[in-house]
Amino acid sequence: MDLSNNEKRMLKALHSESSKSWSLDELLASCGWDDQAHVAGAGLALSEKELVSIEEIKSKSWTLGPEGVAANENGLLERRLWDWLISQSEDSRSMKDLQSSEIASKQETGVGVGLLKGLGCELTQGSFVLPESIDAVEVTLVARTSFIEQCSNGASEGDLDGELLTHFRKRKGLIEAVDSTERTWTLTDSGRKIPDSILEERLQVVEITPELLQGEEWRTADFKSYDVNLDAPTPVGGRAHPMMALIERIRAIFLEMGFDEIDGDYVQTAGWNMDALFIPQDHPAREMQDTFYLSNPEEIEIEQKHLDDWTVIHEHGGDTGSRGWGGQYSTDESKKGLLRTHTTVNTIRYLAETPDEPCRVFGIGRVFRKETIDRTHLPEFHQIEGIIMEPGASLPMLVTTLKTFYEKMGYPEVRVRPAYFPYTEPSLEVEVKWRGQWLELGGAGIFRPEVTEPLGCKWPVCAWGMGLERLAMLVLGLDDIRQLYISDLEWLRNQPLL
Ligand code: PHE
Repeated sequence: MDLSNNEKRMLKALHSESSKSWSLDELLASCGWDDQAHVAGAGLALSEKELVSIEEIKSKSWTLGPEGVAANENGLLERRLWDWLISQSEDSRSMKDLQSSEIASKQETGVGVGLLKGLGCELTQGSFVLPESIDAVEVTLVARTSFIEQCSNGASEGDLDGELLTHFRKRKGLIEAVDSTERTWTLTDSGRKIPDSILEERLQVVEITPELLQGEEWRTADFKSYDVNLDAPTPVGGRAHPMMALIERIRAIFLEMGFDEIDGDYVQTAGWNMDALFIPQDHPAREMQDTFYLSNPEEIEIEQKHLDDWTVIHEHGGDTGSRGWGGQYSTDESKKGLLRTHTTVNTIRYLAETPDEPCRVFGIGRVFRKETIDRTHLPEFHQIEGIIMEPGASLPMLVTTLKTFYEKMGYPEVRVRPAYFPYTEPSLEVEVKWRGQWLELGGAGIFRPEVTEPLGCKWPVCAWGMGLERLAMLVLGLDDIRQLYISDLEWLRNQPLL
């Protein structure tokens, strides 16, 4: 049996007279406590263990109200008036005499006259006439006075005279009712059977401290058990936003797979964002309604060498074996400033810088497209971009890399399907299985010669670009992409740590 020290002490006290019903005061005295909360607490715990039964007797008692306290000190109003009245000669018992006597205040006089009448006095032509039996009045007054005295210590209703109680209840402020409950504690049969030998009080350890463990006392101590099922407040401290946490995790995975991180600017030229990727200048995605073109800077310079190269490639394919897109290439179009529409612009610019060094690089960055905001679209979102350029870089290597990444993210089922991008051949769509459904998360492929040759790339380039928010929706189980950015504190607090 798991008993606290207080419970043990109380049981011991009860055992000393094991069939008696104990009052609060008796238990306080016997246990040596001065706080009745100990008796209440230990008693309740013991009754829950069915070792003690508690009996409650509800009772009503009466104490003095504010007027009653005054009356107990200075005498009841009728007592004071009566004493004055009988001490006056017959011709000076008038209302006037009373008012000038200072026996009662102005307000009291009104009530007082009523009380005197109640005692049998009469008021005739402004003068009081005493009742026949003065002794009877005296008896009444003595009884009323002692009633007030009785209440001054709190008197239970049963002990009070019923008639007087009715009388005083009608008078304002003299007495007040108090409802009280008295409890008694009695051992039950199983309480009586508890052997005294287990009632030794022992050190109760609630918290384990180094000091405790350095001593010897813990060896014989009782350890308070923890209830791990109890509700506890969830600490709310600062923490990373789920998107930041997700980015960190993705970053860690690519770094672990041997990739270096690259970065780039939001503001780019149409040349680098599109022309370098062999996206034809009349491609619908380049229209104003899809891309944020800038009015400042409206135009950004591009090295002439690149403009020349792209002109050749776009118009007739140069010596890549391609026939190009035909038509007339516009270098004005290339120089237009815009907000990057994909992070492929970062990898392509990286390749332009170091076309003759093998590389594995990735970047996570924000991109901008003129999308109408809805459940699955935002005009600003993030992409997870990457390339591998090295001797022997191939489609299987690309697919394995993406599969490995998603597997590390916790999505082992990945498949690729043929797709089309102007800058890759072959091109893939990457899909991940989530809750039984295949979801498209991004595009990938091998950069076309029209892209790599003008830059002077030495080896084949595997490339991919995947949606970060799409992935976040899977990881966080969202069906509305907007939830990620509305700063809903309640939701943010309740997100699992990634
Ligand atoms: N840039 C493409 C997009 O935004 C993704 C992609 C990147 C496709 C690299 C192929 C190669 O959807």
